[in-house]
Amino acid sequence: MTKTVVVVGTQWGDEGKGKITDYLAQSADIVARYQGGNNAGHTIEFKGKQFKLRLIPSGVFSAEKVILGNGMVINPESLLEEMAYLNEEGVSTDHIRVSNRAHVIFPYHIEIDGLQEELKGDQKVGTTKRGIGPCYADKYARFGIRIGDMMDKETFAEILKENIEAKNRLLARHGKPTFNFEELLEKYSAYAKQISPYVTDTSYELDEAFKSGKKVLFEGAQGVMLDIDHGTYPFVTSSNPSAGAVTTGLGVGPTKIEEVIGVVKAYSTRVGEGAFPTEIEGPNADRIREIGREYGTVTGRPRRIGWFDSVVVSHTRRVSGLTGISINLLDVLSGIDTLKLCTAYELDGKEIKFVPSTIREFERCKPVYEEMPGWHEGITGVSSYEELPVAAQNYLRRIEELVGAPIAIFSVGPDRDQTILMKQLF
Ligand code: IMP
Repeated sequence: MTKTVVVVGTQWGDEGKGKITDYLAQSADIVARYQGGNNAGHTIEFKGKQFKLRLIPSGVFSAEKVILGNGMVINPESLLEEMAYLNEEGVSTDHIRVSNRAHVIFPYHIEIDGLQEELKGDQKVGTTKRGIGPCYADKYARFGIRIGDMMDKETFAEILKENIEAKNRLLARHGKPTFNFEELLEKYSAYAKQISPYVTDTSYELDEAFKSGKKVLFEGAQGVMLDIDHGTYPFVTSSNPSAGAVTTGLGVGPTKIEEVIGVVKAYSTRVGEGAFPTEIEGPNADRIREIGREYGTVTGRPRRIGWFDSVVVSHTRRVSGLTGISINLLDVLSGIDTLKLCTAYELDGKEIKFVPSTIREFERCKPVYEEMPGWHEGITGVSSYEELPVAAQNYLRRIEELVGAPIAIFSVGPDRDQTILMKQLF
């Protein structure tokens, strides 16, 4: 029986990973996140209520333990706010574990995020302005502050002082507000105290869990097209949403990964800037945006809409080693006469079936489409593949063929009950 499943986004994020993770978490003992921070936004419907989470894994509602791994960047203020929000709604947070090796987002990271976007002008990334990039930059420059460092006030004070001095010099040079060391030290030491009961060596905890035969769900945030290595660089996030990052972002070996489920939207969306070959505007885009509630969970920005792009999802299948796909939001496509699927790109007169490495080339890619008849029936009530209209079945099968990975799940609405399992996981 499968003991570990990774859930990754296969497009530009917002594929509905929260829903699928929440669904699979019902059968998992532990849910662990391996990258990103409060740039993510998951919407989960639980007991008739809608929850919006950013930092805490979606499995918080049912798993026996949820882990925020070392590969994440953690804003302590947001973490505590999110915990308080869950507690107010009657959801316990006692089972949360935070890696002592995760890096901490400070207010200067957020300020620098905004400054960098400003300096980039029309080349801006369109970040969520949560300080994600600058925090990861400090990590890789070996200048960052980790959760564990905050636990000892003396060590913390020493590193924070150095950091604030350097950041203040940069911010002052650009006429931006600077930060007071004592104030930040007091504030963040208080946060550290509040967080300390949850802080631990999460790699050790996972190892113990494996030894006792627990089932673990690894939850990715964002999507592979936003991956710092495999996405549409530089219009990407600063971590690796790809499945490989499970190993480094949680301190588990690659041999521990069994199933990798790629969450796929039945169409495509993107927030922020950057090339998007299958982007559409007009009535079909507006219809999909409204029915699919395609507005950012974190920033509320309307998402850009496009047809399903199999070149993108094949790319993700390859770089994340997908063993199955979960097709979400299929119901949103009901009522469209003709659906288009992108099967290749035309780049400078040549047909290609891969995502080019540079954004300049990607911007020149023109989608090659195949058309399929749509369906007009509402499908939000179906509970099996056989109940789907034939056109919808054909659409799913074609996606499966084009991507090269079997359908493990499809989803026809936001509720847990609107999730149809085609392959037993866990
Ligand atoms: P950052 O992660 O805030 O640095 O933003 C970098 C890019 O990733 C921007 O285009 C964001 O819109 C995008 N992004 C970050 N997190 C998410 C997410 O959870 N869903 C969709 N897009 C995201």
